[in-house]
Amino acid sequence: MPTSRIAIEYIEEKILQYIVTGCAGFIGSTLTDLLLREGGNVIGVDCFRNYYDPAIKRAYLSSALEHDGFRLLELDLSSQPLPDPVTLTDGEQFIVFHLAAQAGVRASWGRDFNLYTRDNINATQNLLEWCLRADNIKNLVFASSSSVYGDAKELPMHEDRTIPKPYSPYGVTKLAAENLVSLYHANYGLPTVSCRFFTVYGPRQRPDMAFNRFMTAGLQHKPITIYGSGEQTRDFTFVEDITDGLIKAQTITNGEIFNLGGGNRVNMNHALDTLQKVMGIKLDIVYEESQQGDVKDTWASTEKAKQQFDWTPSILLEEGLRMEFEWLCAFLQ
Ligand code: NAD
Ligand code: UGA
Repeated sequence: MPTSRIAIEYIEEKILQYIVTGCAGFIGSTLTDLLLREGGNVIGVDCFRNYYDPAIKRAYLSSALEHDGFRLLELDLSSQPLPDPVTLTDGEQFIVFHLAAQAGVRASWGRDFNLYTRDNINATQNLLEWCLRADNIKNLVFASSSSVYGDAKELPMHEDRTIPKPYSPYGVTKLAAENLVSLYHANYGLPTVSCRFFTVYGPRQRPDMAFNRFMTAGLQHKPITIYGSGEQTRDFTFVEDITDGLIKAQTITNGEIFNLGGGNRVNMNHALDTLQKVMGIKLDIVYEESQQGDVKDTWASTEKAKQQFDWTPSILLEEGLRMEFEWLCAFLQ
């Protein structure tokens, strides 16, 4: 299992107050639960967007809502002001994990693009302005994405060598947000760090993502669709490896950027073999044309995270898929 306890002890100066934006989402709710379990106080921010059913997000947040250390601010970062920082945090030092975003690569074309600019760019800029007003902020940890690299041909993708060149509108907005974070650091000295996540999976995975779709369809005896030949590769990353990486990355405040990739780079056909083994069934697979915005390959170099904050991913794909499947079976009951 990931080393979250060790990660928390790794923090030199124990900061116990956190703001988690996107706290009701897949990764945000997992991080919130972890921080609460480890004795942190969390102010969660989310506006329950309906990209997928908000009732699912309420369910993800239910255990946090019962916790004394949790407070929910239900507000839209793109259009509503956060309360005064010192009042909100009682003047105590705090760290922001900024995960709120409009996620999803394939839905970012056409008219919906303005949802992406609103929630990924404008919301991030508002949050950064708010952070400038907080003397007591220790760090802003930004959830970036492998999609900033685009369809890179030289692999693995390396933070300081691979030139970002997004291939989807979503990737453009994530890169813009990441650049905003970097320039608030460069111009104002705001403490920041950005982590580029590579296709995250595990319990609470978003219902639009591949493994959740495949498992749900399999349980309902429905066919699944593979876009393209299935030879595209992804460096799948287990969600607790991500939350572990975020907690370790909070020690970096100099605006640097890190990949968080799972070391589970496989093509989709291979991933499906593993998934069918885990589910113990044969899936009915339909192949369709590849989708605009989908890159051929992702593969993270994770040397930098290993060197600077001793992070390495620890969950193998089969093990992680088993955990996601067990969670989904229970969740759908
Ligand atoms: P998610 O959709 O489950 O969670 C995002 C949350 O942000 C949602 O609950 C949504 O309601 C909230 N939100 C959106 N706009 C908001 C706004 N304006 N104000 C307040 N709340 C708002 O997505 P996720 O998969 O958990 O992704 C979390 C973060 O990680 C995102 O920044 C995403 O870009 C990034 N990321 C995810 C993956 C992945 O594979 N899931 C990979 C790379 C990067
Ligand atoms: C994921 C997240 O959804 C993005 O929010 C995130 O930013 C991105 O990872 C990232 O790494 O930065 P994606 O890799 O497309 O994006 O994740 P999945 O939806 O799990 O898709 C994985 C692969 O399966 C893709 O090649 C996709 O084309 C394929 N797929 C997906 C199918 O073949 N069929 C489906 O029904 C769904």
